[in-house]
Amino acid sequence: MVTIAASLLAADFADLRGQIGLAEQGGADWLHLDVMDGHFVPNITIGPPVIRSLRRYTSLPFDVHLMIENPDLYLEEFRNAGADSITVHYETCPHLHRTVQRIKSLGARAGVCINPATPETLLSGILPDADMVLIMTVNPGFGGQSFIGTSVEKIRRTAAMARSIHPGISLEVDGGIDESTVRSVVEAGAGVLVAGKSIFGARDIPAAVRALRAAAGGA
Ligand code: DX5
Ligand code: ZN
Repeated sequence: MVTIAASLLAADFADLRGQIGLAEQGGADWLHLDVMDGHFVPNITIGPPVIRSLRRYTSLPFDVHLMIENPDLYLEEFRNAGADSITVHYETCPHLHRTVQRIKSLGARAGVCINPATPETLLSGILPDADMVLIMTVNPGFGGQSFIGTSVEKIRRTAAMARSIHPGISLEVDGGIDESTVRSVVEAGAGVLVAGKSIFGARDIPAAVRALRAAAGGA
């Protein structure tokens, strides 16, 4: 059973409430919220006020992906805004254990993300503590980019490492996930699939969620 996390980055920002409803209709499991600061990544998106406002209109879990420098400064604010999981980038956290413990102490699930150029072996020390690992399958910053093909083997290696160190951990992938790429990442071991353009860029959003699930193997 895969988890589909619909990324609002590709949604119509003038109608986020309506777009969330359509994703829900299609059976999306989580909402993925991409927070960008214009420093760690070359784009600026949303922050806690938008997340707090959306929290009133859906019971779907909020999967908050922080693409920001100094994430420690904002963890509590994102948790209070309604984040169920908070994922930070390995590349932004010099004291990663402390950050992960802080997220958990706030009552959220703690995720750790790596960019395409960051080797997965660097995650071994944090795997016992993290609830989720997120492998970027594009360089973060924008939706609608092409899936990086070499990610499939990286996901496979990460899944093998996770199985030996922390079997219960969730393995999430993000970037370029669509009907043509989803099967390969699921076969490689991914269980949480972030999808933006392939869901919200579709004419029929509920049908796009169902089609992605079917392409993932129907589970
Ligand atoms: C990219 C974000 C992604 C993005 C994925 O930096 O982290 O969550 O929304 O978009 P798609 O699915 O369109 O590649
Ligand atoms: Zn993301």
